[in-house]
This record gives sequence, C-alpha cells and structure tokens, in this order.
Amino acid sequence: MDRLERHLPADCARVAVICDRNVSVLGRRLRSQLRRSGRHVELVLATGGEALKSWSIAGRMVERLAAAGIGRRDCVVAVGGGSVGDLAGFVAATLNRGVAWIGVPTTLLAMVDSAIGGKTGVNLNAGKNLAGAFWQPRAVLADPTLLDTLAPRELISGLGEVAKYAMIEPEGELFRLLDASLPRLLAHDVEALAATVERCAAIKAAVVTGDTREGGPRAVLNYGHTVAHALEALAGYGRLTHGEAVAAGMRVAGAISMAQTGCPPADIVWQDQLLDGIGLAPPPPQPIDGVLQRLGGDKKAVAGQARWVLLERRGRPRTGEIVPEALVRRSLTEVLRR
Ligand SMILES: NC(=O)c1ccc[n+]([C@@H]2O[C@H](COP(=O)([O-])OP(=O)(O)OC[C@H]3O[C@@H](n4cnc5c(N)ncnc54)[C@H](O)[C@@H]3O)[C@@H](O)[C@H]2O)c1
Repeated sequence: MDRLERHLPADCARVAVICDRNVSVLGRRLRSQLRRSGRHVELVLATGGEALKSWSIAGRMVERLAAAGIGRRDCVVAVGGGSVGDLAGFVAATLNRGVAWIGVPTTLLAMVDSAIGGKTGVNLNAGKNLAGAFWQPRAVLADPTLLDTLAPRELISGLGEVAKYAMIEPEGELFRLLDASLPRLLAHDVEALAATVERCAAIKAAVVTGDTREGGPRAVLNYGHTVAHALEALAGYGRLTHGEAVAAGMRVAGAISMAQTGCPPADIVWQDQLLDGIGLAPPPPQPIDGVLQRLGGDKKAVAGQARWVLLERRGRPRTGEIVPEALVRRSLTEVLRR
C-alpha cells in the first residue's frame, strides 16, 4: 500500500478509492496517505459479494465519481476481493470513456486471478459477467499480509484456483511449491503465500499477455471452469464459492482427460489429493441432467456443445476439446454422485 502512489498517473489530482467494507480500515489508511500528498480522495465503501456486481450499482458509482470531479487524468483504486475489483474496474472503464485504475486485491482469489488480466464487469439478469470491458489496471499491488483477516472458506476458495494453475503450468514450479508448502499456506504463512501469489500472478500474466482479449490461448485458464460455471448457476450464485465449483470441475475434467487424451492417472490422483488436502471435497450430489443441460448453454460453448480444456498430462493443457456426452455423463456421475 505504501508503494501505491508511485503508480498513480503523473498529474493525478483526484483519486477514487472503492473499498470493500470488510477492509474499510485499509481504505481509510489509503485516504490519509493520499491526502498527505495533497490529493483529493473520494472514499466509496461497498459491500463486497456477488450482489455488488450489478448494472444499477455501477451506474450509481459512475455518477458519484463524476460528481466528485474524477476526470481523465485521475485514478480509481479498487481495494477488495474480485467483486469489488470487477465492479471498480468496470466503473473506471466507463467513466470519461476510461480512467486509470489500480487494483489492491484483498482475497487470495483476487490476488492470483481476478485482479490480473483486465477483465472487468457486472452481472445481468441474463447471466454472470455479461456486461463489461477489457480494461487493464496500471498496477496490481498484492500484499499477502492483507489476507490475515480472510475467512478460512475464502482462503480455501482461492487455493482452488491455485490448484488449477498447478495443473496447467508447463514448468511445474507451482506443483513443487504446493507439494512443499500446503500446510503453511493453509495456516496463512505470509512467505508461503507470497511465493504462491507471485508464481500464480506470473502464470496468469504470461497467458494473458499473449491473448489480452481472450481470442484463443487464454482459454487454458478455464481448466475446470466448464462444469464450475454450470454448478454455480445451478446452486445459485454465492452458495458454492468459486473455488469449490472449480475444484469439482477439475475433478470432472481430470476424469475425462484420462479417458479422452490418455492423461496419466498419477497426475489426476495428485490433483484430487491436492484438492482433498486443501479442503475442497466434492460438493453434495447434484442433478446430472441439470448440469448437462447447463454445459450446452455455457458462454464458451459452440452451437450448444461445450468446449473443454483437458490435460494431456499435468502442465500440458489442450483447449477446444469436444467430449462425447456419454463420457461427460459418466465422469459427472463419478464425481458428483459419490
Ligand atoms: N475479472 C476476472 O478475471 C475474474 C476472475 C475470477 C473471478 N472473478 C470474479 O471475482 C468474484 C469473486 O471474488 P472473491 O472470491 O474475491 O469474492 P468477493 O469479492 O465476494 O469477496 C469474498 C468475501 O470476502 C470479503 N473480504 C474481502 N477481502 C477480505 C479480507 N482481507 N478480510 C476479510 N474479508 C474480506 C468480502 O467482503 C466478501 O464478503 C466473482 O464475482 C467472480 O466473477 C473475476
């Protein structure tokens, strides 16, 4: 947080700090810090969570920032989890046709995933994240000490995305890091968290740099997400955490990979044991037909047919895979009916 000022645009006189109420102490600290350097600060406290990502809240916030005189040369700072980051980034993208923004993620999920890559947006009645913009932040400042107050379920949810990176990363660095430090991560050990966040951020940044508008290679990041999106929609958003849904999706994609691409079973055993160790057990039984139906309606489906990310082995993902329905059904049943 102390380094934030050096990332502000050179002649920025006003800063809007959009901050999750659960970490309001950080927002207030930032306000004092920025005021000391003579800047006007508009502090907006928001209740984090999926309900925040709404068109009407985004609209009210754009109006408020415009009324506070936030202009082209100024800056928005998002302090919070992915919900605050997605909303604040979208507000920044929209105001004055785009003002600079900086992310200060305060959940593990936001540090390793949502704050990086420039996808911003809100939900519509028709579905999640259906309105938004690609708008890159000037900087993302991730400080793992900010995770001290995070609820265990939220930390575990973030570790679900971390496990995903470990399965798609070609170098295998994260895989070794997790093998060596999972208990320390679960105990909020700052050094272990810092090393993990750094590695995940580097993986995501590398993938996204090659595909800023999600035309192709970025799809590898969706390993586990085909089923995750269906489960989240079925359960109702917010019931299952994103990490819980992704973990279930990885188990299904892993089972399919073994059958379709010949992925070595040992890699999937490692994955499933990692998820068990994190505390991401398979969710309660789910209606298989309901999940199957949702898969065809996924945003990334083509002509009603889901496109899967599968693994040839750990560290070698394959995108755009079409999977026969019988195999999907069998794998869903194995994971979701246990
Ligand atoms: N833009 C992207 O590329 C991208 C990628 C993945 C996920 N997302 C989005 O991210 C959102 C989920 O983000 P999330 O998991 O961070 O959830 P979140 O923002 O809803 O935060 C989870 C909870 O933790 C609280 N919280 C945040 N920081 C805290 C802290 N340091 N201490 C205590 N409590 C704290 C929040 O108030 C909230 O209640 C979803 O809307 C998802 O669509 C976006």
